[in-house]
Amino acid sequence: MKRLMSMTVVSGLWLVLAASAQATGGNVAAGQAKAAACAGCHGADGNGGADPSWPKLAGHVPEYIVKQLSDFKSGARKEPTMSALAATLSTTDMINIAAYYASLPRKPSAARNAELVKQGEKLYRGGNAKTGVSACMSCHGPSGHGIPPRFPKVSGQSATYSVQQMLAFKAGTRTNDGETMTRIAFRMSEQEIKAVAEYMSGLH
Ligand code: HEC
Ligand code: HEC
Repeated sequence: MKRLMSMTVVSGLWLVLAASAQATGGNVAAGQAKAAACAGCHGADGNGGADPSWPKLAGHVPEYIVKQLSDFKSGARKEPTMSALAATLSTTDMINIAAYYASLPRKPSAARNAELVKQGEKLYRGGNAKTGVSACMSCHGPSGHGIPPRFPKVSGQSATYSVQQMLAFKAGTRTNDGETMTRIAFRMSEQEIKAVAEYMSGLH
């Protein structure tokens, strides 16, 4: 029984490693060609477009991009535009697109509300012991660059987009996170969400 369990653990680990090796080994040129269909919203350089609710993809952890595209395709993450687009992509397309966007530099956002940034920094670095909110940096990294393969980059992201995602986690309308973010966001006030999103948008 013990041996069977350790074999399961080992083969599970192997699958995760194989998937991340695949996600990081994509073909950048093939990804760039496919991403022509994405530039209108995510920007020609992957740093977002006219609408601040269109996220930046530049510099994202590649495994995270692959996971989100698969989740849009399967319906685990729901958004009409992205679900329709992801439905046309093969796993190879997703891996190539992820390699392309991961290779582009992310630009930090400019406009920042100093008071919100201060509140947000406190929460990002130390969490909120009273309400049981963990420090964001323990998973997203001290500079918000994320930790591959599982924890996404949040630095420089549009604050509008980050607020929308946190509210979606809080309301339970985005549930493709294995309950990690839904549990955290549930304990946060809308004010805390706004503050931390403002802080993350200026991180680089
Ligand atoms: C019409 C605008 C539009 C187009 C075109 C578009 N997207 Fe998106 N994309 C969005 C929006 C809006 C979201 C945020 C969805 C949400 O709120 O959950 C998003 C989210 C994403 C995310 C998740 C980002 C994150 O940080 O979690 C990925 C990955 C993504 N898009 C990839 C692509 C790719 C690849 C293409 C081209 C094949 C593409 N998108 C084309 C609007 C668009
Ligand atoms: C225990 C680890 C952990 C902690 C702590 C954590 N996160 Fe996350 N976060 C994740 C994971 C994992 C995901 C990706 C979920 C998925 O795969 O869809 C994520 C996703 C996100 C996203 C969505 C990113 C995108 O591009 O759509 C935002 C925004 C976010 N986290 C903000 C925060 C904030 C703010 C805090 C602190 C209050 C925080 N996180 C604390 C693990 C964590």
